[in-house]
Amino acid sequence: MTIARLQSAKKEYQTGGTVVTALHRTDLEVQEGEVLLIIGPSGSGKTTLLSLLGCVIYPTEGTVVVDGRELNRLNDRELAALRLKVIGFVFQTYNLISPLTAEENVAFPLLLDGRISRKEALGRAREALAKVNLSAKCRSLPRQLSSGEQQRTAIARALVTDPPILLCDEPTAALDEVSFDRVMLELQALARQGKAVVIVTHDPRLKPYADRVITVVGGRVLAAQKDTNE
Ligand SMILES: Nc1ncnc2c1ncn2[C@@H]1O[C@H](COP(=O)(O)OP(=O)(O)O)[C@@H](O)[C@H]1O
Ligand SMILES: [Mg+2]
Repeated sequence: MTIARLQSAKKEYQTGGTVVTALHRTDLEVQEGEVLLIIGPSGSGKTTLLSLLGCVIYPTEGTVVVDGRELNRLNDRELAALRLKVIGFVFQTYNLISPLTAEENVAFPLLLDGRISRKEALGRAREALAKVNLSAKCRSLPRQLSSGEQQRTAIARALVTDPPILLCDEPTAALDEVSFDRVMLELQALARQGKAVVIVTHDPRLKPYADRVITVVGGRVLAAQKDTNE
């Protein structure tokens, strides 16, 4: 099932007197249960594309539809709910809060939402950490975790509200080879459980982990390729 879709979505940025077209008109469908890899060089529009799918920015033209809802038609309250419940974000830098334990970091989005108790939030955080095989590190501080464990904690934080879509911006850029493999296998496992996992990267080493690879160059999606054996 399609969980997110760009329809002729275009994004321009205004800087001073000039207009930069970061993404030309693009059609893209994201399916539940797939690892979709979007690969392209620096400055090609990958973060822009991901930010549109994540409803962080609005398209200059065209539409963004996520979980059956059209971005341009949402009011502030609906948009906040969509971002919290439907979309999980994972970044290159993990953005963990250093004095908080792994489980407290993961519980953070739930505590911000404020509708459930601290005890319940921490319980859900431990469930999310179990999904990325980090149960043993619930009480560790970020500095006591390896880079890969920190990234898996950040993935757990993105998962804690059980969103159907996980959007990852260069998630392995700061990782060593072993952590890299581990993180990619966890992301793959989440797709097998039904999540849509969208990863943008400039790193071709991620290709073997993807179900579908698309290439962006100069703000244009070049080709859809099934072949992930490169
Ligand atoms: N907020 C912004 N304001 C102006 N230009 C931007 C902004 N964000 C991105 N750009 C420009 O849009 C293009 C695509 O950027 P981006 O989506 O970040 O690419 P990538 O993630 O592939 O490196 C680049 O030319 C970049 O300089
Ligand atoms: Mg980027």
